[in-house]
Amino acid sequence: MTKRVLVTGGCGFIGSHFIAGLLADHADIQVVNFDSLTYAAHPDTLAHLEEVGGGRYQFLKADITSAHVAEILSQYRIDSIVNFAAETHVDRSILDPGSFVRTNVVGVQNLLSAAREVKERKIRFVHVSTDEVYGSLSPDSPTSIETAVLDPNSPYAASKASADLLALASHRTYGQEVLITRCTNNFGPFQFPEKLLPLLISNALEDKAIPVYGDGMQVRDWIYVVDHCRAVDAVLQKGRPGQIYNISASQERPNLEVIRSVLDILGKPHSLIQFVGDRPAHDRRYGLNSSKIREDLGWAPSYTLDQGLALTVDWYLRNQEWWKKIRNKDFFQYYQANYREKFAQTEAGRVS
Ligand code: NAD
Ligand code: TYD
Repeated sequence: MTKRVLVTGGCGFIGSHFIAGLLADHADIQVVNFDSLTYAAHPDTLAHLEEVGGGRYQFLKADITSAHVAEILSQYRIDSIVNFAAETHVDRSILDPGSFVRTNVVGVQNLLSAAREVKERKIRFVHVSTDEVYGSLSPDSPTSIETAVLDPNSPYAASKASADLLALASHRTYGQEVLITRCTNNFGPFQFPEKLLPLLISNALEDKAIPVYGDGMQVRDWIYVVDHCRAVDAVLQKGRPGQIYNISASQERPNLEVIRSVLDILGKPHSLIQFVGDRPAHDRRYGLNSSKIREDLGWAPSYTLDQGLALTVDWYLRNQEWWKKIRNKDFFQYYQANYREKFAQTEAGRVS
């Protein structure tokens, strides 16, 4: 049974939910949150746990590419790592693939090597990956199973697929206790407002246009963030080393349908929808088969898409200060303008 868990990327969207859930659900677990605090981090969210967490939570500002990871693992007597740390936005990966390779590939290999360097105990390593590694499905093809061919299209997806392969290689070559999860699109509170759902909600609340890439008929398989976190916890506690587990709530929807639902919840007009140029190499459809984790580990999602959307919209309504602070930052405005401009110069599929 795992006791001292190092969670990387714990100041990000999913990692922060994961840590809160792990501490609440397991009284005997201690967590070290290991995060380098990139633009996507929100360290204030969990900061109170250092005071009220009964000594079970510590934050460490550190980078997964650091040469000191093995020392840290030994110092904190870590017995499990859950790796959420990553560069995560597809649009950014199109403009700056190098930073994705640095964290998502080099960083993951560094973590794997550091875990192997620790001789006192065998460290269990859960690597959090994504459905995007399978690439785009055609409309009538079956959902992806864990053994499907990896066919990533964006630099983000390619970097995650590379890390998955390195993690598996560490298991096969060195016998490391590595497990991989691949989840579908998450949504919920504390998601950085560059991703579709929080961008849509915050733009709509400010009566700004909602940019819809291409025809808006791309399909994503949506899961409420809490369900993803519980699935990763099930893999951490009960998963078999060397295995890959798909995580999906089987809720595939075209983007336009989700966008219209959210506008309806908010009572905002559909006329806010603005079709813009398409994302280069935009994957048409993601959809996962998650029978394995359901049957082997007994996991099942608890939230329907409608329930999750209602909770999410409510949170963004009640926490406007949180996202307005991010949106008012210079770098956010610069980035939004910069990549839109670049995309506008592209003709379906290429950035010069
Ligand atoms: P996020 O962008 O909200 O947070 C990423 C966190 O990682 C940030 O706190 C950041 O500071 C930290 N980080 C980045 N580079 C780091 C580095 N070099 N060293 C240490 N920390 C670093 O991301 P998210 O949406 O919470 O995603 C978390 C993980 O889940 C990622 O691995 C992502 O690929 C995976 N995932 C995300 C989704 C989704 O829909 N968001 C779906 C499936 C899988
Ligand atoms: P996103 O949240 O960036 O996640 P991912 O690219 O990892 O799936 O995008 C979800 C979908 O929404 C994707 O098909 C791209 C589309 N999208 C838009 O149409 N407009 C936007 O402004 C954004 C950010 C995304």
